Amino acid sequence: MSNSIKTILVTGGAGYIGSHVVLTLQQAGYRVVILDNLVYGHRDLVEQVLKTDLVVGSTLDRDLLRTVFADYSIDAVMHFSAYAYVGESVTNPSKYYENNLVGTLTLLDAMVEAGVKNFVFSSTCATYGVPEELPIPENHPQSPINPYGATKLMVERVLADYDQAYGLHSVCFRYFNAAGAHPEGILGEDHNPETHLIPLVLQTALGKRDAIYVYGTDYATPDGTCIRDYIHVCDLANAHLLGLEYLLKGGESTVFNLGNGSGFSVREVIDAATRITGRTITVVETDRRPGDPPALVGGSQRARQVLGWNPQYSDLDTILTHAWGWHQQRHG
Ligand SMILES: NC(=O)c1ccc[n+]([C@@H]2O[C@H](COP(=O)([O-])OP(=O)(O)OC[C@H]3O[C@@H](n4cnc5c(N)ncnc54)[C@H](O)[C@@H]3O)[C@@H](O)[C@H]2O)c1
Repeated sequence: MSNSIKTILVTGGAGYIGSHVVLTLQQAGYRVVILDNLVYGHRDLVEQVLKTDLVVGSTLDRDLLRTVFADYSIDAVMHFSAYAYVGESVTNPSKYYENNLVGTLTLLDAMVEAGVKNFVFSSTCATYGVPEELPIPENHPQSPINPYGATKLMVERVLADYDQAYGLHSVCFRYFNAAGAHPEGILGEDHNPETHLIPLVLQTALGKRDAIYVYGTDYATPDGTCIRDYIHVCDLANAHLLGLEYLLKGGESTVFNLGNGSGFSVREVIDAATRITGRTITVVETDRRPGDPPALVGGSQRARQVLGWNPQYSDLDTILTHAWGWHQQRHG
């Protein structure tokens, strides 16, 4: 690896996880160009916090991609842009196959044309479907139960073929539930609509929602509610930096889970949020939702062993404290 400053194209860099990765890359000395269509991304965070080049446009726009690869000397692409609403992917799969699959193919083909060989991809635990064992290892069968997960699995398969045929090297990170915010409250989660538990709980604490709905209290878990694996967004960001450097040093294509290795139940999250915020959080218990597995927990030993990843913010209180700081500032 030469000592010259490397330039990284980050798609979806105006979104939740992408923006934290951009900041981490900048702090590590990389130059970053963001490509985001701003359908869900936040221009204000790019302009005020990240202060880097923002190309407003879509990965589906092949001409625009050609221009970006011609204008900048890109060393690697980190690809966060996608639509990620599981329910919408069931009712409108076309939107998901187009954006998440065709959009990624268009990007990969532009990379091949431009001779860019390193690619970091946001995959998901949704590619596993209903787990047969916990914690879920990377070699667990992949059998997604919704179109969103299917689009991500298809991209993983495309990447294996593009490596063979075109020498395009990739790291696929299968995240569990990204959560938390930058410890200084300068970046955080701001999805609209919001479907993730922690921001919904904190919006309820702020009085922006009347109640938090708990879907099912009769699961075979210690308190009857679903268990999920929450991974701090800054720990995710660090893993991406390590994954990028692994590729830039010539590492071969591979896949890593990124999770905490331990889960928290919906009730545990609500109880901890009540304690940390000091607010009243009204809870409405309702029926199970179809397709929700009782527990989803990922094994991330591989990322620790191969990349030397060492998550800093694994405990639930820290995740919630950082998210609360961000939510109060952004929405309070
Ligand atoms: N948030 C999670 O818990 C989670 C878990 C597993 C996987 N993921 C994956 O991580 C990635 C980032 O998730 P996030 O929570 O930060 O989502 P996000 O919606 O905050 O960020 C995605 C960004 O991509 C942009 N975008 C969407 N389609 C685009 C396109 N065609 N061209 C250019 N920009 C486009 C959006 O405007 C948005 O800024 C996604 O690929 C998602 O599937 C997220």
